[in-house]
Amino acid sequence: MTKLLMRALAGETLPTPPIWMMRQAGRYLPEYRATREKAGDFLSLCYTPELAAEVTLQPIRRFGFDAAILFADILLVPQALGADLWFVKGEGPRLSTIDGQADFDKLGPVDEIHETLGPIYETVSILSRELPEDVPLIGFAGAPWTVATYMIAGRGTPDQGPAHALKAENRELFAALIDRITEATIEYLSRQVAAGAECVKIFDSWAGSLQGHDFDEFCIGPIARIIAELKERHPGIPVIAFPREAGDRYIGFHKATGADCVALDNSVSAEWAAKYVQVDGCVQGNMDPRHMVTGGQALVDEAQAITRALRGGPHIFNLGHGITPDADPDNVAKMIEAVRSA
Ligand code: CP3
Repeated sequence: MTKLLMRALAGETLPTPPIWMMRQAGRYLPEYRATREKAGDFLSLCYTPELAAEVTLQPIRRFGFDAAILFADILLVPQALGADLWFVKGEGPRLSTIDGQADFDKLGPVDEIHETLGPIYETVSILSRELPEDVPLIGFAGAPWTVATYMIAGRGTPDQGPAHALKAENRELFAALIDRITEATIEYLSRQVAAGAECVKIFDSWAGSLQGHDFDEFCIGPIARIIAELKERHPGIPVIAFPREAGDRYIGFHKATGADCVALDNSVSAEWAAKYVQVDGCVQGNMDPRHMVTGGQALVDEAQAITRALRGGPHIFNLGHGITPDADPDNVAKMIEAVRSA
């Protein structure tokens, strides 16, 4: 198999890890900004298959990454369930909020999400035709907890306070919301796989704010359910799970969820992850995205240190979170060169 990413996901230890980058299609690239301008706004770009496929391909052409990630957003699922969604320039996403039962009751049924999400499956099928032979396509969705934090608060929050408050006040309603998102996510990812995604990633960006039993119930539980159902429907489909800032809960995360690969944020060291997480399977990560802004020898040293620390087992090189708009594209090329020559 020539696809390095698929080999690492299957548990193979490789001399050079496959490389891709969270938010690799994004505002740090002039060609992305030009296509986005043409689309009008971010959501139009997501829902125009030819343009979404184009921005997915741009970083592959420019840098020769070993994987492409579908251009879309985790907040399209709430929108497909009937939430209002819009983006405020320079601030981020806004959604209608969920304060109680009445708001929950306004959400639509899971089997109607495809009416909204159809263009996303079309993007996937364009990409599965147009990507180079050796570059697999990663589909994705948000994990139910992270998606719920945006649906409840109606925006990103520093501490996910509104979601924690609803969980404390009405655990039954909160659990029903998590279930609805879980079921929608299974259908959404399953369609992405049917359309040609060769791997999927589940982003639990706010996993680190769940503790103890809540982490088991609302991070591990829904992710394990999504993975089990996907693997039942699409035997062998590899899954990457990203419980960002999970800390010591990264330990055992492969086994607890059935994920083939666990993505690491940059708050844990690669040496620690080699010892406690990579023993259970493939890991992905985990360079601090700030190096893509600051560059220099520190970038080269850090990229090589991570590559070497995780060389004893299956590893996919990535950042610990998304590349930021102020990053320098030359630093991306420098990172790839550093990893491949480590
Ligand atoms: O990684 C990729 O290149 C694929 C596309 C992708 C986007 N968002 C495009 C995007 C992926 C995988 C995501 C995931 C996503 N979206 C997450 C999970 C990962 C993470 O970053 O923690 C979350 C929490 C979101 C929700 C979201 N979308 C926020 C909070 C924002 C605003 C913040 C920001 O960076 O602007 C977005 C907007 C967004 N999603 C952009 C892109 C390229 C920027 C939009 C623009 O062009 O203005």
